[in-house]
Amino acid sequence: MSLSRIGVLTGGGDAPGLNAVIRAVVKSACNHGLECVGLEDSFDGLIHPDQARVLEPRHVTGILRRGGTILGTTNRGDPFAHAATGQDYSARCLERFHELALDALVAVGGDGTLAIAHEFFKRGMPLVGVPKTIDNDLVGTNSTFGFDTAVSFATQAIDRLHSTAEAHRRVMVVEVMGRTTGWIALYAGVAGGGDVILIPEIPYDLERVADRIGERARLGARCSIVVVAEGASPKGGEASIVTPASEGRLARLGGLGARVAVQLEDLTGQEARSVRLGHLQRGGEPTSFDRVLATRFGGKAVELILNGEFGRMVANRPPDIVAVPLADVVGRTKQVPTDLDLVRTARALGISFGDEEPA
Ligand code: F6P
Repeated sequence: MSLSRIGVLTGGGDAPGLNAVIRAVVKSACNHGLECVGLEDSFDGLIHPDQARVLEPRHVTGILRRGGTILGTTNRGDPFAHAATGQDYSARCLERFHELALDALVAVGGDGTLAIAHEFFKRGMPLVGVPKTIDNDLVGTNSTFGFDTAVSFATQAIDRLHSTAEAHRRVMVVEVMGRTTGWIALYAGVAGGGDVILIPEIPYDLERVADRIGERARLGARCSIVVVAEGASPKGGEASIVTPASEGRLARLGGLGARVAVQLEDLTGQEARSVRLGHLQRGGEPTSFDRVLATRFGGKAVELILNGEFGRMVANRPPDIVAVPLADVVGRTKQVPTDLDLVRTARALGISFGDEEPA
């Protein structure tokens, strides 16, 4: 199959490093004699005729370090059941793909975008997926770009909270993102020297958390830091939901940190405050790690296209970037294994996950 033109789109929530992928795709594709077309706002770029534009290397100069995505993105744009209208635009997308004379597509996104990409692949669209999410919850790849940046930001935030918490003898609860997984909380909690880490994979008992905080106070600690994943929940209880799931939309999580702070103040008698880091974790410049990973992903995606290896997702399997079938990764979530070495190490250091046996 001779190739001359490829498309690239970014879908789902943004993650630092998206621009680095776009830059790598455009530069390496153009260096191989391919023309690149950027599709705006995920698959909407294949629905609306004015949302596609040719991308040349000059268009991607200077974007390596920029957060967000120059192509725009949406997590409400499933063409098979569009959130705005409920309509199925998939046939329109396939038609537009051919109208644009595209020979292949690079779809950069998380679980939702990759699932859509897989559906289009099954309907004959030659494409390659690139995994993206700050949550690090995609199977098949050791890591996704955006995660390192989110963890670095959350770690800096915890560092700052340490000094103010210590000054006031407070319990400081910091809520991080991660949806139904606790990767960000676990990594930032360990990197920031947190005393308690609550993750969705380990339902917690707040009495145990209070025990740990009380014990620390008795031993002379002036403060305690509790890192809470937004999707964590108490044993036998529910996650903290801002907006329930609806057609084409996942439930919006949030507010657990504030709830936990109030409850802990009650249980420990120590003053407690909460901070929700929210979208600050997704914004801003990618770390050097994420820039390199995103660049490797983009380069590998073009390599797969040139080799005619479609229906694959590029994946980080150190020391290599490999290709795995999309069929093996879509519809699955990479939870934190409860016996992960980092969980065991954290426990060995005295970090509580709120599930310890009472003393
Ligand atoms: O999947 C990335 C993520 O940032 C999650 O950690 C978070 O739950 C969700 O997206 C927030 O999505 P939105 O920006 O649509 O509120």
